[in-house]
Amino acid sequence: MNILVLGNGAREHALCFSIAKSDQLSKLFCAPGNYGISKIAEVHNFDINNFDTLYDFCLANKIDLVVVGPEVPLVNGVVDFLDSKKIMAFGPKKIPAGLEGSKIFMKDICSKYNIPTAAYKSFTEKKLACDYLKNHTFPVVIKASGLAAGKGVTIATSLNDGLLAVNDIFNDKFGSGCELVIEEFMDGEEASYFVFTDGTNYIPLSSAQDHKRIGDGDTGPNTGGMGAYSPAPVFTKEIQKQVDQEMIEPTLKAMRDLGSPYQGILYAGVMIKNNKAKLVEYNVRFGDPECQVLMLRLKSDIVDLILGTINGNISSIKTNWEENHAATVVMASLGYPNEYKKDTKIKNLELAENENDIEIFHAGTELKNTELCAVGGRVLSITGTGNDLQTALNKIYTAIDKIDWPESTFRKDIGWRAINNG
Ligand code: AMP
Ligand code: GLY
Repeated sequence: MNILVLGNGAREHALCFSIAKSDQLSKLFCAPGNYGISKIAEVHNFDINNFDTLYDFCLANKIDLVVVGPEVPLVNGVVDFLDSKKIMAFGPKKIPAGLEGSKIFMKDICSKYNIPTAAYKSFTEKKLACDYLKNHTFPVVIKASGLAAGKGVTIATSLNDGLLAVNDIFNDKFGSGCELVIEEFMDGEEASYFVFTDGTNYIPLSSAQDHKRIGDGDTGPNTGGMGAYSPAPVFTKEIQKQVDQEMIEPTLKAMRDLGSPYQGILYAGVMIKNNKAKLVEYNVRFGDPECQVLMLRLKSDIVDLILGTINGNISSIKTNWEENHAATVVMASLGYPNEYKKDTKIKNLELAENENDIEIFHAGTELKNTELCAVGGRVLSITGTGNDLQTALNKIYTAIDKIDWPESTFRKDIGWRAINNG
């Protein structure tokens, strides 16, 4: 098969890494891709949200299967579009993609199907949202309802913070529309859980946990994700059973009830406290950086799993995982998630790549005049495996030490909860 992966992050690099091992692959393409991906796939830089351009590309290159990495094209209906053109595509259609595309839609589904999640109220009028906050206790969580590239959530600890957040959303600061959800603050430990589903049946992936804050000890502003590890011990078999029964199954039923079954990968972000999970969010795609660690541990052919979600026979497909542990540490441009310098030079990457059991997945990299440059916020995912988490992390940090990139930042404490508890 000719397979096209859409996206340009380290998540898509990891997906390409996994797809490249499939017996079913004839030729791998990626758009828009990045420098790292160009080593294993033919990279074409076009606008993946322009569906006509995408269709022309698929026809010209005889693409059999499109694997959609990021949420924006899914929420815009790329799978519905490709389906109408008889091109197979991996991911949910537009209606079920609303589980990520609209927090109001997602919370209303939770309420209708009794899915455990934070109590909430949605608003489309600024004054009502502000009045509600004035009578609320803090902390409280304020979320733009639409897609906001991970920036639309504020944990407000005072009325002033809360009013600022409401103001930002109604000024459309995140380009996510003027609707919001105000919800109860949940404390606990977060974990990410993924299932491949054909709409009715589903198979779980191994558990993972990411680190969303920029600073060590989970401090500072939220980011797209600064590191991850798998398996995540906090996600016990018991929790998995609860999440399957109380979240995944009713959600799949809800989508069938709407006449648009969920096919693809469903990612539940959960908060665990006192051995009970509550749903924080749904995403309709792989997590980044969770995907990087999962792809290093997946032994099965990912293309079989992808086709199982499309063809409706996911339950007949076996998944095998390496018994080992994997972790990834994200190196970002210094200053991220705020302003950062572009075009800083990364040297000695090959020394890190030569370390044992290390894979480096690229996000914001470009080759400029034969020099590797950082052009984005999150730039490299240094990913490694070991018999236990500490061993995997030791290999990763040894590899990072070899990289000469002074204008970078990364967390030194990835996996700290699992290590402290283990
Ligand atoms: P979301 O985009 O809904 O996933 O939110 C991004 C991040 O904000 C989550 O991964 C949590 O770390 C945090 N968060 C979101 N909702 C809540 C909540 N109700 N209570 C505590 N933290 C939350
Ligand atoms: N790792 C968080 C996300 O992909 O949304």
